[in-house]
Amino acid sequence: MADVIDLILKDHTWFREQFAELDRLRAVEQPDLDAIGAVWSALATKLDLHADAEEEIFYPQLLRLGEEDPQEETLDAIGDHNDIRDGVAAAAQKKVGSDAWWDAVHQAREANDEHMGEEEHEGLADMRLHAPAALIEELGRAWTIYFAQHDGTTTDGVDTSDKDPEQYVAEHSTDRR
Ligand SMILES: [Fe+2]
Ligand SMILES: [Fe+2]
Repeated sequence: MADVIDLILKDHTWFREQFAELDRLRAVEQPDLDAIGAVWSALATKLDLHADAEEEIFYPQLLRLGEEDPQEETLDAIGDHNDIRDGVAAAAQKKVGSDAWWDAVHQAREANDEHMGEEEHEGLADMRLHAPAALIEELGRAWTIYFAQHDGTTTDGVDTSDKDPEQYVAEHSTDRR
C-alpha cells in the first residue's frame, strides 16, 4: 500500500519531530554538537529531497487534476520550497551550533512549518478529493522508488536550486485534462 498523500504526511510528521529533537538537544547545558549536526544533516537532506520529490511526482499531477485553483496552490508551494531550500543552504554555510547556524535552521523551520500547513489543507486535500485513488497509489509507488534511488541520505544528483514558480507552473500545465 503506497499512498502518496500518506507518504508526504509521514514526512511532515518526521520533519516536526526532528526539529523538536533539535530543541531537545539544544536545551541542555552543554549541547552535543555532533549529535545536533547529525540530526540536522539528515533533516536538511530530507527537506531538499522531499521538495524535489513533490516537484517531480506530486505537483505535476495536482496541476493536471486539482480543482481548487491548483495553479495558485502550486505557485505558493514552489515559492515556499525555495524559502525552505534557502534556509537549508544558509545553514550549510555556518558552523553547526553557532548563533548564525541556529538562525538559518530557524528560517528553514519557519518556512517549512508554514508551508506544511498550507500544503496539507490545499494541495494534499485537493488531490485526495479530485484525483483517482489508483493514481494516488501509483504516485505513492513512484515516491517510494524516488527515495530508494536516493537512499534518503544524499542529495547527490538532485537539483536543490530554487525554481522559478511561474516557470514551473507554465511547464507543467500543458497536459491539463
Ligand atoms: Fe510536503
Ligand atoms: Fe511541499
